[in-house]
Amino acid sequence: MTSLCLRRPDDWHLHVRDAAALAAVLPFTTARFARAIIMPNLKPPITTTALALAYRERIRAALPAGSGFEPLMSLYLTDVTDPAEIARAKTSGVVHGAKIYPAGATTHSDAGVTDIRRLDAVLARMEELDLVLQVHGEVTDPAVDVFEREPRFIDEALAPLAERHPRLRIVFEHITTEAAVSFVLGARAGVAATVTPQHLLMNRNALFTGGIRPHHYCMPVLKAERHRAALLAAVAAGTPRLFLGTDSAPHGRRAKEIACGCAGIFSAHAGIELYAEAFEAAGALDKLEGFASCHGADFYRLPRNTGTITLVSEPWEVPASYPFGTDELVPLRAGERIGWRLAAAAE
Ligand code: NCD
Ligand code: ZN
Repeated sequence: MTSLCLRRPDDWHLHVRDAAALAAVLPFTTARFARAIIMPNLKPPITTTALALAYRERIRAALPAGSGFEPLMSLYLTDVTDPAEIARAKTSGVVHGAKIYPAGATTHSDAGVTDIRRLDAVLARMEELDLVLQVHGEVTDPAVDVFEREPRFIDEALAPLAERHPRLRIVFEHITTEAAVSFVLGARAGVAATVTPQHLLMNRNALFTGGIRPHHYCMPVLKAERHRAALLAAVAAGTPRLFLGTDSAPHGRRAKEIACGCAGIFSAHAGIELYAEAFEAAGALDKLEGFASCHGADFYRLPRNTGTITLVSEPWEVPASYPFGTDELVPLRAGERIGWRLAAAAE
């Protein structure tokens, strides 16, 4: 049995929802990660520092006893975000980024940005005050093929934005394509990306294995094998521009197993173990710690964690579901095995 001791990791892209759902999912993350960027796409969204501070308190109130977990907050940008809000966010000390959701791109994004050019004043303020921009990088034009939405966004929106704001630090969230990998690796300094476990471990065939598989549906949607291979090769090479962001996005079973199911894969129950599998398959376990515990902290200019976690290569069976308020949650790999297990964690 191989054992792997890592500096305690952080999750740079996480959905924890609110109320009963929050209480149900948060302990999975706090058992593994010291900090996480908390996505602001609640309903209504977290558009102001005041809302972020209140949400942070609700998260802290839901923490398991004794947990030192730190929620890192993010603001949801809209067409009417006031540049003055950026200064409030920065001085709060608890808001570490602000996120562009192109309107209609994903779950709870209808209040998002309809035209990125309208954000120039806000982005200029972020650049000046050095607040990180997080981007959901897909165009929303329904005429664009769903598998082409990320590459199109790079050409039409992200590359020009990075040039217009040359000092703005940008995280291209949950990248899924070869085009995104080459863009990030070749971009100017200050551009990085998060990578999810599902996009390293599965290709789009997983949506249709033996029938339609709603629990493998997320945004951006899984891509063809060559894209998965490109993502895995890039993280296996150890570039500091790529780091861990699970995009664990819980939706109850009833919202997933219907005619028009929600996008989102829940992975927090194995939020580091799944990456260990992917890195092991790439022969790059030695690169896992940089990806999971160093590159993100360095990019966000936060101290690296001092605690550790220990993983062992001992397969375990994932439960068929977990409790989730009045519903239940079907986790990634439900009823199947994961090759790595969390054996210990110290803060
Ligand atoms: C996310 C969610 O459910 O909040 N869903 C998803 O498929 N990733 C939204 C998002 O991050 O796009
Ligand atoms: Zn997300």
